[in-house]
Amino acid sequence: MDQIRVRGGRPLTGDIRISGSKNAALPLMAASLLTDQTLTLTNLPHLNDITTMAGLLAQHGVDIVLNGGSEAGGHTDGQGGRVLELTAGKLASSRAPYDLVRKMRAGVLVLGPLVARAGEAEVSLPGGCAIGTRPVDLHLKGLEQLGATIELQDGYIHARAPHGLTGAEIVFPTVSVGATENLMMAAVLAKGETRLVNAAREPEIADLAACLIRMGAAITGLGSDTLVIYGVDRLHGARHAVIPDRIEAGTYAMAAAITDGHLNLVGAKPEHLRAVLEALAQAGVEISETNRGLSVKRANGRLSGVDVMTEPFPGFPTDLQAQMMALMATAEGASMITESIFENRFMHVPELMRMGANINVHGASALVRGQAGLTGAPVMATDLRASVSLVLAGLVAEGETLVSRVYHLDRGYELIEEKLSACGADIERISD
Ligand code: UD1
Repeated sequence: MDQIRVRGGRPLTGDIRISGSKNAALPLMAASLLTDQTLTLTNLPHLNDITTMAGLLAQHGVDIVLNGGSEAGGHTDGQGGRVLELTAGKLASSRAPYDLVRKMRAGVLVLGPLVARAGEAEVSLPGGCAIGTRPVDLHLKGLEQLGATIELQDGYIHARAPHGLTGAEIVFPTVSVGATENLMMAAVLAKGETRLVNAAREPEIADLAACLIRMGAAITGLGSDTLVIYGVDRLHGARHAVIPDRIEAGTYAMAAAITDGHLNLVGAKPEHLRAVLEALAQAGVEISETNRGLSVKRANGRLSGVDVMTEPFPGFPTDLQAQMMALMATAEGASMITESIFENRFMHVPELMRMGANINVHGASALVRGQAGLTGAPVMATDLRASVSLVLAGLVAEGETLVSRVYHLDRGYELIEEKLSACGADIERISD
């Protein structure tokens, strides 16, 4: 298994191009199941999760053509991302097997589109993962409200709506990104009107809605917590550019801050990062909006501790909590970091402590007492965002940090060593 070796202490300077958003791309790819015409997605990142989703869609019968991308050397979408053409002419199977959904929970996003298009779906229950139990009850309850019958059998969700789905009002008791996406995709082909109340407002949801509208769907309320979907008989092909990855942008903003460097995050969208930029500014990071994206550096001297609580958008994202903790571990003073979205999302804490961080966890909160310096150590990645927090800590730690289990990192960060080393980091991948 690959490892990443980082030698800390170099300030990062230069430009980093922000890739297309993984979390926007995955539901957009699933949306290709809703039409027999071609959906062309541009600005796609080259990541393992995208390959897993492509594999899942291919076994449902989607024909996939891939162009461009940094690895292939081509930049056919003009932005440096990849172009994927997905055509679900005829569905070969409406079963999403355990082997693929187990690898990536977002596999459950094929459920809504399959039921809407084929009238049935069998999708493996995703099961637990390192950051908690992560149920899908809201996805299933919503589909039932749209008229599907749901049975759980042998670890699979069996959903049936042989006569099609019917619009309904669905009020979410908690905000869920995945459930909002699944039900929006199911509702676009339902009969009549669907209202999703207390819907997630993450930019990835608005991006999915915008693409569905391009495909012929009728949706209003984009960006708000109430989405109204007027069902149509069929959707058609479209071309859509995936939004930039706000989590990658936030991560590199913290990389600039932790190393006392200066990075230009090309393509980053400040309106997707308001809560993060506010917390960073409070900590003493100077951020300016440029016509290319964001410029990030420290205002002066050491950073100071700030309190942060994760919340659904527009709050501080849970996917940047671990990185913020690494940053706060080197700030002056204390910081209280509270995780309100996922249970068990502090698995980076013991690893950061091995590097000299002073952190005490009490339930859903972690009290971080900033240290003047961290020291390199062998550490283990436990999930995607935890692993990048260890890379951030390694960038500033004295000596060598060896991060193992980097396959987690490869699920969500495109060309991370290349991007960081181009800005002066001493980082390399050790393959075995
Ligand atoms: C998505 C993101 C993930 C991010 C998360 C929260 C993708 C592919 N993944 O995950 O990176 O960390 O949003 O911003 O976009 N819940 C239920 N029942 C359900 C569904 C969710 O109780 O049926 C709970 C979850 O356990 C969690 C909370 O709702 O506590 C939010 O989860 P959700 O927004 O659904 O996360 P995902 O869509 O899985």
